[in-house]
Amino acid sequence: MKIPKLQIGNITADIPIVQGGMGVRVSLSSLASAVAEEGGIGTISSIGLGDLEVSKNEYERVSREALEREIRKAKSMTNGHIAVNFMGVLSNADDLIMAAVREGIKIIVYGAGLPIKLPSLVEDSSVNLLPIVSSARVAELILRVWDKRYEKTADAIILEGPLAGGHLGFSEEQLYQPEKYSLENLLPEVLETVKAYEDKYGKKIPVIAAGGIFNGKDIARMLSLGASGVQMATRFVCTEECDVSQEFKQAYLDVKEEDIAIIKSPVGMPGRAIQNKFLKDLEIKGKLKIKCPYRCLSVCKVSEARYCIALALVNSYFGDVDHGLIFCGKNAYRCDKIVTVKELISGLLAELEAA
Ligand SMILES: Cc1cc2nc3c(=O)[nH]c(=O)nc-3n(C[C@H](O)[C@H](O)[C@H](O)COP(=O)(O)O)c2cc1C
Repeated sequence: MKIPKLQIGNITADIPIVQGGMGVRVSLSSLASAVAEEGGIGTISSIGLGDLEVSKNEYERVSREALEREIRKAKSMTNGHIAVNFMGVLSNADDLIMAAVREGIKIIVYGAGLPIKLPSLVEDSSVNLLPIVSSARVAELILRVWDKRYEKTADAIILEGPLAGGHLGFSEEQLYQPEKYSLENLLPEVLETVKAYEDKYGKKIPVIAAGGIFNGKDIARMLSLGASGVQMATRFVCTEECDVSQEFKQAYLDVKEEDIAIIKSPVGMPGRAIQNKFLKDLEIKGKLKIKCPYRCLSVCKVSEARYCIALALVNSYFGDVDHGLIFCGKNAYRCDKIVTVKELISGLLAELEAA
């Protein structure tokens, strides 16, 4: 199989692999630039970059400046394609998106919330807008509103299935029916939905499949089903360039299949994470003390939340995994060594060619 390129609007990536954005601080300039150097699309996560100790007044500025620094760093390390991932539930999402556009980012990926007003924030038509969806219904809703309100359509859609890591766009009930909501079932429905908008706007809207894609054979399967590319995250955690602590990576190498769990997050969505000491202690204590000088998540009900998710994720980033949350995809238990991004991608491409 010849390796297909991934065309998103005016951007052509040499390989059909997008490295998924991973908060908090798991995918920053080091990982994103390494992926971009190999011809893929590297994604910086914009989430939780500011110092946790800042005051409410300083929070927005400090977070914005930290994102600007990461973007500049990534751009100094590669001329390849860098995307930035945003979550709609962030209280400062709009400010971060506008900062990324000012820094010259051409691929905006938006998940965990409906990007209804995204086109009004990003007027520059050379910037590609990529909503993350987990069903054809949500894809249709976004595309219909953008069409009606802005006479605009998406430049690509990322379809994230139930095997993904981090927050998941499914109910817990749906997550326990993986067959029904499999990527293989969801993908044709989403392709069908985008078709009407492709016809209307006379352009291809590539659909990028994500969640549980582990090897080149998986990539080949998604491409054969009509995806234009794949988004992968879990595999990229076990790379030398990944920005997170060694302890976080080691937890992936150590985890057993049965220790990967679905958790309730203060974000209001289920998430997938490693069942570690932090989660076990939380189970016993019921609730941890929260100090919240600012509201990083518009949806977080601080008085009801059982823990501060920003703090738990930052702890893991720094290596204090016993006091931290470790998000991972369903297939994390299959990771068995740390490799370079170059080694990972060349292995995936060899498997894809062979498939
Ligand atoms: C550690 C980790 C953190 C993640 N954080 C985010 C995030 O902040 N925003 C987001 O849109 N997706 C996030 N994701 C989802 C990934 O971007 C990706 O779509 C998904 O995990 C793909 O499935 P895979 O991990 O099985 O390859 C995260 C995934 C992981 C493993």
